[in-house]
Amino acid sequence: MLKLAPSILSADFACLLEDMQKIARGGADYIHVDVMDGHFVPNISFGAPVMKALNGKTSLPYDVHLMIEAPDQYIDSFVTPQTAYITVHQEACVHLHRTIQNIHAKGVKAGVAINPATPVSSLECILEDVDLVLVMSVNPGFGGQKFIPSALEKVKTLAEIKRAKGLSFAIEIDGGITLDNAKAVMEAGVEIAVAGSAVFGAADVSQCVSDFKAIR
Ligand code: DX5
Ligand code: ZN
Repeated sequence: MLKLAPSILSADFACLLEDMQKIARGGADYIHVDVMDGHFVPNISFGAPVMKALNGKTSLPYDVHLMIEAPDQYIDSFVTPQTAYITVHQEACVHLHRTIQNIHAKGVKAGVAINPATPVSSLECILEDVDLVLVMSVNPGFGGQKFIPSALEKVKTLAEIKRAKGLSFAIEIDGGITLDNAKAVMEAGVEIAVAGSAVFGAADVSQCVSDFKAIR
């Protein structure tokens, strides 16, 4: 079954708690927290205080996606009892192995993300150490962009490596995911789908989450 991580980036910030309760009611698996610094990506979103304001308001775990430079110095601030994953970008980490170790040292699962122009082969030496690989299917920075189909090939490659080497990382996809393409990404090997505008732009947010969760 496909797990769904609705992205808070597309929620109504004036009614954030209500929106979180709607996705919880629909059966979402995670809250995807998109953090942007205006340097690694050409946009600024929000930081840990916003995420922490939701602590305890729903039981949904956080799937934190750091689209920031030098993420090591901010890892601590995203560690909460609800933080399941902290994912950093391969392109933003000179010492990626150290960063993954730093996340694990906080008792949190560690993920690595790759941009559309970054090949799966760049992860060869880190796949054994991560709990999640996030394949970006848009160029990070904004919600509501169009899905880039070459991401599907990357997912298939990762699924094949995972099977062949008996590894345990989860495969996640992020960007342009809708009810129309969710089945195809699941069949390619995606285990966790991020969806922002498709969920929070729906007339009935809870129903939309349920519809994603009904995909078989
Ligand atoms: C893009 C973010 C995504 C984005 C997804 O930089 O990482 O999580 O919010 O939004 P949609 O689903 O609208 O493409
Ligand atoms: Zn994201």
